Amino acid sequence: MTVTPTTMTATPTIDVETRGLTKIFAARHGTARITALENVSLAIRRGEFVSIVGASGCGKTTFLRILAGLETEYEGSITLDGLRIDGPGPDKGVVFQDHRLLPWLTVGENIGFGLLDLPKTEQRERIRKYLRLVGLQGFERAWPAQLSGGMAQRAAIARALVSKPRILLLDEPLGALDALTRVYMQRELEKIWTREKITMVMVTHDVEEALYLSDTVVLMSARPGRIKKITPVHLARPRDRENPVFQNLKKELLVEFGLRAKSLFSYEI
Ligand SMILES: Nc1ncnc2c1ncn2[C@@H]1O[C@H](COP(=O)(O)OP(=O)(O)OP(=O)(O)O)[C@@H](O)[C@H]1O
Ligand SMILES: [Mg+2]
Repeated sequence: MTVTPTTMTATPTIDVETRGLTKIFAARHGTARITALENVSLAIRRGEFVSIVGASGCGKTTFLRILAGLETEYEGSITLDGLRIDGPGPDKGVVFQDHRLLPWLTVGENIGFGLLDLPKTEQRERIRKYLRLVGLQGFERAWPAQLSGGMAQRAAIARALVSKPRILLLDEPLGALDALTRVYMQRELEKIWTREKITMVMVTHDVEEALYLSDTVVLMSARPGRIKKITPVHLARPRDRENPVFQNLKKELLVEFGLRAKSLFSYEI
């Protein structure tokens, strides 16, 4: 078991709830202690797509690692479906910026790595289902080195989804891709989210990507990492990046970052 009950009164539509989440990294080898997160309180609805944006070092990865159960020392509380998160597990899928596929296993074996307890036929069915979902049908026997960057990230998403997690956590999943592939993959990610109806929390540096994909954009400020602004995005999907409302939201968020509007079209923090 990776979770233990703390409350029976959680609102059913809330999937993840953090209250007063504070993470302090202790001083070590002469470095000062760092308050990576301070008093972060956030409620994420079931099936919601939430993006976390903010400058480098503001605690985005730390927040995701706590959600993933990879970081278990913190103050405050964090629950998934009303149960305290206290370790990693199949209920939480994680995708990192680099795909982290094992090079000595085929794409299919990489995706099926967490399914070894299941009967062989079920393993195969699930692997095929998720390869199809991410558009990689036919690549089961390929090696990771034979995939492009975008394909490798799709395989990583399939691997994270194959254990049918309740929540998918993505840390800059498209950060290493070229601009065109990135835009294409944003659309693919949206399709996967729509089909799987899963709660997704994605860290990104890219405000436009966050606005394109998210129901809610959470902007964080650095040192200490705090929530600075929560922006609900009520635009129909798939979103039109040229829509004036979209453009205005983008401008507002960039201004919060301290960027000037004239840098709108060539921006990456
Ligand atoms: N294991 C660790 N030990 C000590 N300090 C850490 C550790 N991990 C992160 N930190 C510090 O916590 C702060 C937040 O780091 P984090 O990696 O969460 O930032 P981030 O927002 O993901 O940054 P980036 O956008 O560059 O990935 C930073 O100041 C970092 O130096
Ligand atoms: Mg990070």
